[in-house]
Amino acid sequence: MELSNLIKEILELVNLDIYGVAGVVKDEKLIISALREGAANIYLYEHGKDLVKLNKLPISGVAEPPYGSDRVVIYRDVAKGRELHKAYLVHINRPGEEVELSSNLQPMRYFSVIDKGENVFITGVTERGLTVHKIKPQGEVDIVGTIPGLGFLVDVNDGLGAGILFQQTGRIKLFTMNIDSGELKIHNLPGSVASARVGGDKKILLALEGREGVTFHTYDPESKELGPLQLPYNDLERYNPAGVNYMSLLPDNRILVVARKHGRSKVFLDGRLIEGPDGNYGAGFKWRNGLVVSHTSLLTPYRVLYLGENGWEELVGPKMPDWLRNTLGDHGFHKVKSFDGEEVPVFTLESTRAGKPGPTVVLVHGGPFSEDLDAWNIFATALALTGYNVVMPNYRGSTGYGEEWRNKLIGDPCGAELEDIVSAARWAKEDGLAEYNVIMGYSYGGYATMCALTRKPGEFKAGVAGASVVDWEEMYELSDPAFKQFIELVFGGSREKWRERSPIHYVENLRDPLCIIHPQNDSRTPLKPVLRFMEKAVELGKTFEAHIAPDMGHAVNTVDDVVKILLPAVIFLYRLRRDQAASS
Ligand code: 4NP
Repeated sequence: MELSNLIKEILELVNLDIYGVAGVVKDEKLIISALREGAANIYLYEHGKDLVKLNKLPISGVAEPPYGSDRVVIYRDVAKGRELHKAYLVHINRPGEEVELSSNLQPMRYFSVIDKGENVFITGVTERGLTVHKIKPQGEVDIVGTIPGLGFLVDVNDGLGAGILFQQTGRIKLFTMNIDSGELKIHNLPGSVASARVGGDKKILLALEGREGVTFHTYDPESKELGPLQLPYNDLERYNPAGVNYMSLLPDNRILVVARKHGRSKVFLDGRLIEGPDGNYGAGFKWRNGLVVSHTSLLTPYRVLYLGENGWEELVGPKMPDWLRNTLGDHGFHKVKSFDGEEVPVFTLESTRAGKPGPTVVLVHGGPFSEDLDAWNIFATALALTGYNVVMPNYRGSTGYGEEWRNKLIGDPCGAELEDIVSAARWAKEDGLAEYNVIMGYSYGGYATMCALTRKPGEFKAGVAGASVVDWEEMYELSDPAFKQFIELVFGGSREKWRERSPIHYVENLRDPLCIIHPQNDSRTPLKPVLRFMEKAVELGKTFEAHIAPDMGHAVNTVDDVVKILLPAVIFLYRLRRDQAASS
């Protein structure tokens, strides 16, 4: 394969549109969020017509509009990727016109934006921590209150707000907030909150992650009474999910739940299973005589499906070219034994260009409280095009496998979860998938890559570390109040291991080829410590390459951003594969 052809294919891949549904607005039109025309945008969908772009400039996000609304709240970074946001209103009948909603609010990092029609609630980071702001129709701002820790509002109804609060034990607590008085209550419940919605009766619809999976409840924040959610059908209960992708109370009072386990999800309406294509579903809404929902799988780029009287139908989705589809081979889900007998859930995606065994990349997800799913993954797909099989371990700390598995990382980063990643790599060799392994990741995955190359030299042929963490101490100094709390959470409230678990103190161990890729203006995993890492690597005579992505931050919002991050990795891996083939 010629490098020039590969680059052409990668550019085609990153320009493949992806779609999701964000809500149902006035006259039964849909708000579609898409990566299309080179950036994240929102579009108005009307049955049988072309999409109409509503925003003017690329967005960072969109709030779920209330049913029947005639305007949509979008927000975007205004600081070259530093994630300082402003919010805007876009009217569905005035495409391209934006009215600033946050003119009385300084730009700040938004954690949640809740559109209640009349008022909009923004949880954002100020000097005082995570603060809930109520934006009134003329743009006046009321400060509702400050959240005592790392958390944000998830829903508001009838003067009552509900939110989630991350504890240093890993437990995710429910808090409620009286929107008028600001009074805040933290609730003790038997499990972490997986999802919460405020009903009209000031009761909370609650999904709780307990020891035996996710259970569904109604909760009265006044009396503190927790009861089982009574649903007409029991498929959801029998499914016994481990996570919730989406939950809402539909306008006809039915309850929509998208629940998942083993990296796949299913749609339930009033507890009844709605069979559909394999993979994962995102937000869903009542629309016409049925449901509209986002869908994806490892082989299916994100698209929007409608379930009406005639079954499932694709409303908007990209056309996947044959050459791309033909490059993606088998994919699978496995449980791999780790050093201590724990089982690590692992997704694999084979490349028809890699062969078996063939060059393999262990692709490590970020978060760390996140997971690899049977969902479209542009990094994994690009690796398959580059001629690598892909192994995606849901190392301890990952979501979707219970509270206990998720909390096992707390206090021990670059510890047992690194052993899980190494176990997945060794398994890939033993299983006949991998001829040799490379490690690659972004953000926490970049950190894991740096940990692997400096603490386990020789385990991987090479590493690609994107937006990595190399020095917890310096990163803490450079972080905003919310991310300071996040670092404390990852270490379980103790600073004891900050130094020991920082790759910058182990540069002398580096011996495998390393490709560093880092956004210039990253405000979550700042560049400065990585520059110091490189300085040390230069002093010690280590071989590495580095690519600073200009004018972008941690979030990837445009095709240009994807290219800046992905292309250096692809070229590095292309050369590595060529050199390995020549030397064997
Ligand atoms: P992420 O970024 O992996 O994209 O979620 C991170 C930001 C902060 C930390 C880790 C990852 N941290 O541990 O502070």
